[in-house]
Amino acid sequence: MNDHKLPKIVVLTGAGISAESGIRTFRDSDGLWEEHNILDVATPEAWKRNSALVTRFYNARRVQLLSVKPNAAHLALTRLQEFFDVKIVTQNVDDLHERAGNSNVLHLHGELIKARSEKSQERIYDIGYREIEIGEQSDDGSLLRPHIVWFGEDVPMIVTASKWVTEAEILIVIGTSLNVYPAAGLLYHSPYGCEKFLVDPNDLQVDNLFRLRHIKTKAGEGVPALVDELIQRFYPQTV
Ligand code: APR
Repeated sequence: MNDHKLPKIVVLTGAGISAESGIRTFRDSDGLWEEHNILDVATPEAWKRNSALVTRFYNARRVQLLSVKPNAAHLALTRLQEFFDVKIVTQNVDDLHERAGNSNVLHLHGELIKARSEKSQERIYDIGYREIEIGEQSDDGSLLRPHIVWFGEDVPMIVTASKWVTEAEILIVIGTSLNVYPAAGLLYHSPYGCEKFLVDPNDLQVDNLFRLRHIKTKAGEGVPALVDELIQRFYPQTV
């Protein structure tokens, strides 16, 4: 099959796709993220104030990855990419998309399994599941920090993500409250005629303008069903 003729699908994911794997979402419960106020752990000010606390917080999130695994939604996206040109834009910092075999994954908000120099955005290191030591330094002598985009920081990957969405024929939004910009603004970049789906068990304040077809189920149920539906529609001889 000629790859560039495959229908183009962009998938935008948020914390909800990893919920059934056992990773907690941000805004469903009490406004706390794993018992912390987000401003105490996920801002550049928090890092300046108490880099040890922030390091320990992300170390715990990273270690947690060892005890979770991709769920049916992540795995369904691997099946989707057998039939379509699939690009995944995720706000998640976990590695469950990759571990499910998803390719073309762009992490808008960084990755837990990477660290970077406090001084230079380009000095990025693969650290796997190990902890960053308190006070550990990068090659340039500055502190090693989690490779996470904190509130108030630039989101450099948004440029590529916007370009992908601009070319999408189908856009699938999964498990994001669409509260955080610029990620939420990506929907505005979808072209006229792009078919849009939302998989989320809860009602969202999404602008009707987007004409999203809301599949109101958990990702583990709704994503495999939607993937089957799309494959059946585009490749009726397959299923
Ligand atoms: N399946 C699908 N969706 C689910 C499920 C599930 N099993 N469980 C919960 N959800 C939905 C919720 O209804 C909600 O709409 O997932 C969404 C989670 O929203 P948030 O917690 O706000 O997460 P997200 O949108 O990814 O947050 C965006 O904010 O805190 C920052 O940087 C952080 O990347 C994060 C960003």
